Amino acid sequence: MNNVKSELSQRLYIETYGCQMNVADSEVVVSVLQDKGYIITEDINEADVILVNTCSIRENAEQRVWGRLDVFKQIRKKKPELTVGVIGCMAERLKEELIEKKKIVDLVVGPDAYRDLPNLLETAGSGQKAVNVILSKEETYADISPVRLDKNKISAFVSIMRGCNNMCSYCIVPYVRGGERSRDYMSILREVEDLFKKGYKEVTLIGQNVDSYGWESGEVNKTIKFARLLEMVAKINPKLRVRFSTSHPKDMSDEVLYVMAMYNNICNHIHLPAQSGSTNILEKMNRGYTREWYLDRISAIKRILPECAISTDIMTGFSGEAEEDHNETLSLMQEVKYDFAYMFKYSERPKTYAARHLTDDITEEIKARRLTEIIDLQNKLSEESKKEDLGKIFEVLVEGISKKSEDQLFGRNSQNKVVVFPKNNYKTGDYVFVKIMDCTLATLIGELIE
Ligand code: 5AD
Ligand code: SF4
Repeated sequence: MNNVKSELSQRLYIETYGCQMNVADSEVVVSVLQDKGYIITEDINEADVILVNTCSIRENAEQRVWGRLDVFKQIRKKKPELTVGVIGCMAERLKEELIEKKKIVDLVVGPDAYRDLPNLLETAGSGQKAVNVILSKEETYADISPVRLDKNKISAFVSIMRGCNNMCSYCIVPYVRGGERSRDYMSILREVEDLFKKGYKEVTLIGQNVDSYGWESGEVNKTIKFARLLEMVAKINPKLRVRFSTSHPKDMSDEVLYVMAMYNNICNHIHLPAQSGSTNILEKMNRGYTREWYLDRISAIKRILPECAISTDIMTGFSGEAEEDHNETLSLMQEVKYDFAYMFKYSERPKTYAARHLTDDITEEIKARRLTEIIDLQNKLSEESKKEDLGKIFEVLVEGISKKSEDQLFGRNSQNKVVVFPKNNYKTGDYVFVKIMDCTLATLIGELIE
């Protein structure tokens, strides 16, 4: 088959939930199916096939998908030949149960089985249910060129590894995405070079734990580690910004920080999930570091990269979390002065160590109250972090027209903060210098420096 639009071509609508890995995976899925003649559509009512790429990290992530399946059911009432598939982490976790619970689901495909999608869709199209949830030790989709689904064609995710070996006691990821494997560095470099040639100005290297990236290179006869990969990507072109996510505090090396310091185009932003500020809780979470170790990593960042923004993930209400532990989380946040944070209530996930051996003993009320305290503190810290930027000049990569005004553009600085400024003659993809004059809760506001 080919890509030519024909009467026989099936129209594919894909919806993505969850993390950046899922965004990148949906681009692989579209590539696999486009090669078989499927045509991507943004109009769900036009679709012959609906795929929903799902997340299992917290129960509410799954609830949203159940809700969507009810919506798809309504669409199928009008279009009985419609195929509905659940792919990704929730597909992996629930397997056939998805089909049993929701008759609307025709297809269930886990994150390592996307190459099999054309066959499975054919099976589903013939009226049978199709399932492939086999996890792989090797699959990295290295040879598949993702079809970029982003709108602005400026910034792309590049997956450098898959899966996770960390076994944090609360986390479903190792069960739904399998063990850790790194992608061939040559294929990563090729993909980034190709993106740059196509006009992309920013890549984010993504993986569940980028610091443990490792590729055995026969040629140079030694392992390419993350610091080396980062340097090779940065060298592709100084006009290409490089970001990465997610780092793990137990593995984040000074070497990576020194590489960041050497290359201007590696952005000054590190996302370093702390989860908790209490060593006692970190141990129960099996995070592999203490509060002191985490703070040592933070001081290394501040020493080697004084301009670096730091963001984090915080989880509140984990099993056995005492008020004292919660206060240690608040004090950690205050000590680090995060620029940004994602904050969650602990949600027990089936199969994990915590579900099997610990009790989810913090009441919903306490979780909610602690989360509010954490969010309030972070709002204050985010505001302080923005106030410190007043008067500073940043290089900003233009991402598009501001939502609030046609005469304003928005973009990000190296620290990943959103900056809004007058449009003049600039356009998406340009680099501009902006002096910060003001700020709101989420945005820096500035003037162009010509
Ligand atoms: N409950 C709540 N939050 C979780 N996370 C991971 N597992 C859970 C869970 N069971 C959070 C962590 C992680 C982020 C991606 O999601 O903070 O860093
Ligand atoms: Fe959600 Fe984790 Fe899967 Fe990403 S890897 S989609 S966060 S469960």
